[in-house]
Amino acid sequence: MSEAIGVAGVEAGQGSITIRGIGKTYRTGKTNFRALGNIDLDIGANEFVTILGPSGCGKSTLLRIVAGLEESNEGVINVDGDTVVGPGADRGMVFQGYTLFPWLTVRQNIEYGPKLKGVSILDRRAISNRYLRITRLESFASRFPKQLSGGMKQRVAIARALANGPKVLLMDEPFGALDAQTKLEMQEALLEVWEREKTTVLFITHDIDEAIFLSQRIVVMGAGPGHIVREFPVTLPAERTSDVREHPDFLKLRREIAALLKHKEE
Ligand SMILES: Nc1ncnc2c1ncn2[C@@H]1O[C@H](COP(=O)(O)OP(=O)(O)OP(=O)(O)O)[C@@H](O)[C@H]1O
Ligand SMILES: [Mg+2]
Repeated sequence: MSEAIGVAGVEAGQGSITIRGIGKTYRTGKTNFRALGNIDLDIGANEFVTILGPSGCGKSTLLRIVAGLEESNEGVINVDGDTVVGPGADRGMVFQGYTLFPWLTVRQNIEYGPKLKGVSILDRRAISNRYLRITRLESFASRFPKQLSGGMKQRVAIARALANGPKVLLMDEPFGALDAQTKLEMQEALLEVWEREKTTVLFITHDIDEAIFLSQRIVVMGAGPGHIVREFPVTLPAERTSDVREHPDFLKLRREIAALLKHKEE
């Protein structure tokens, strides 16, 4: 398989998401709980959008609906014009907590999706080599998950999601459990992957700095029922090195978002 085509098969300009009028009501026994109400959001191809918001405001619910893991009661979601009706290989997911198969090696975990799809062993090897390289896990290919650190496991989870060639990466607090230093390394690694693979990323975090560092746009949600409060474009240099964290625009945006979230939680 040629590198030029791209193992992932994603062309630039793919992976746009339109979320229209999404509402979700959970029924628990006799009571109804409206978790999301009338969410409208457009995410462009190859855009990196982060959702911030207080606990319980429906961030994960929205992401699971985009993933097709959960159904909405109202509204529709399209990815490149195709209506989401369930999970699909066009959307890769990386969640908090390590969902690797413990009985498979790092390489086998990465090759799992392509193997299911019937990709030949040679092409599977090309795919795992590519993502082992991108996530800097080449020397850990034959290790089992339990022999890895938290950051490494999360890199395998990202590599495994990318190995399916998704147009969209859906990430729900993927670095929430990592120590501060590993988290910063993972953020840089993710930006590298995003730039190379031209995927669209919809990312959830509680960490305002993480949201600003990674994103092109930040969407703040509020509860009762879950709705979009405000959007912030991130007008920082495209080159996100750690210096960007000292940029006046970074600090200003952090203050604005922190004030908004504080107000929401009061
Ligand atoms: N399966 C379910 N049945 C009933 N209620 C649910 C279910 N899943 C989520 N909820 C409720 O929907 C609301 C939104 O939950 P969700 O997990 O989407 O929040 P969140 O914004 O991701 O929170 P956190 O930041 O804590 O992860 C919560 O009040 C939660 O209790
Ligand atoms: Mg959540």
